[in-house]
Amino acid sequence: MLCYINYKRVDKPLEIPNLEVEIGFGRGDFIVKLAKERPEKNYLGIELSQISVEKLMKRVEREKLKNVYCTRIDAYWGFFLLFEDEQVENIYMNYPDPWFKKRHHKRRLTTPERLYIFARRLKTGGEIRIRSDNREFIDFTIETAKFLECFEIKEGILDVKEPLTKYEEKWLSMGRTLYRLNLKKLRKPKEVPHPTIEEVRELFPVKVKAKELKAEFIENREFKLGEEVYFKTFKLWEKDGSYLIESLLSEKGYYQKFFIQLKRKGEEFVIDVSPFSEVLRTRNLQRAINKVAELVESL
Ligand SMILES: C[S@@+](CC[C@H](N)C(=O)[O-])C[C@H]1O[C@@H](n2cnc3c(N)ncnc32)[C@H](O)[C@@H]1O
Repeated sequence: MLCYINYKRVDKPLEIPNLEVEIGFGRGDFIVKLAKERPEKNYLGIELSQISVEKLMKRVEREKLKNVYCTRIDAYWGFFLLFEDEQVENIYMNYPDPWFKKRHHKRRLTTPERLYIFARRLKTGGEIRIRSDNREFIDFTIETAKFLECFEIKEGILDVKEPLTKYEEKWLSMGRTLYRLNLKKLRKPKEVPHPTIEEVRELFPVKVKAKELKAEFIENREFKLGEEVYFKTFKLWEKDGSYLIESLLSEKGYYQKFFIQLKRKGEEFVIDVSPFSEVLRTRNLQRAINKVAELVESL
């Protein structure tokens, strides 16, 4: 079994039964423990850190676990892209919050739009189980949970007999009070505006007639392709009459860095994402290809 799920390539929604999800699994101690205790369930860990993902993959292989999966993506987009509503049985978040400063609060995992998407994908009757050493984060999350009008909220102080993770061990040894917050889904959450991106089945190359390229026309340009959708080009690289343009697409806060290939074919250039760039195929990515084609055509 392949533990790593490539969210850019996999068929969606994921077809994994009896699924529970841990957001920000860190060293992976907790997800591994859960998976061993409950072999009848499947566990998917979502992480931003590449090192954490690699460590978990090694551990899963070493311990021959058959019910642990992981992927590397921001949790919001992971939930948005990978699951359908009412799919996830329970969600776990342990010590998720490094955002102490007020100006960083919008990055928290429990802002209304994030908690909304987690709540949508959670089964009715399922729970979001949170552990934190930060009282302010717990209060912030309770506020958001109330706002969504879909949860039964239970909170308390953790009485830890056996630390779940290194973080927990550290906080306990420092004598910190640890909190638990359980949000049980009773109904659909109240609608909240939230960022969306649209995946497409295929990206189409674009052919344009052009004799030569002028780098200054293509390099270091910035375009607004739609509401909160920005496309930026950087350096143009040439090899044997064909080109690669380094590109960045930001769609509602979802970022992709990739190369667009401009391949010479006689009088024409064929413009497409480079086969060496792995991308999530989105409607705006097609717009980015079209934009480069437009630039080439206008030379
Ligand atoms: C403080 S560590 C806690 C790790 C682990 N849960 C534990 O208790 O030891 C927080 C973890 O959450 C991950 N994380 C933070 N924001 C995230 C996000 N938006 N999506 C996925 N993972 C995230 C970080 O990469 C980090 O590994």
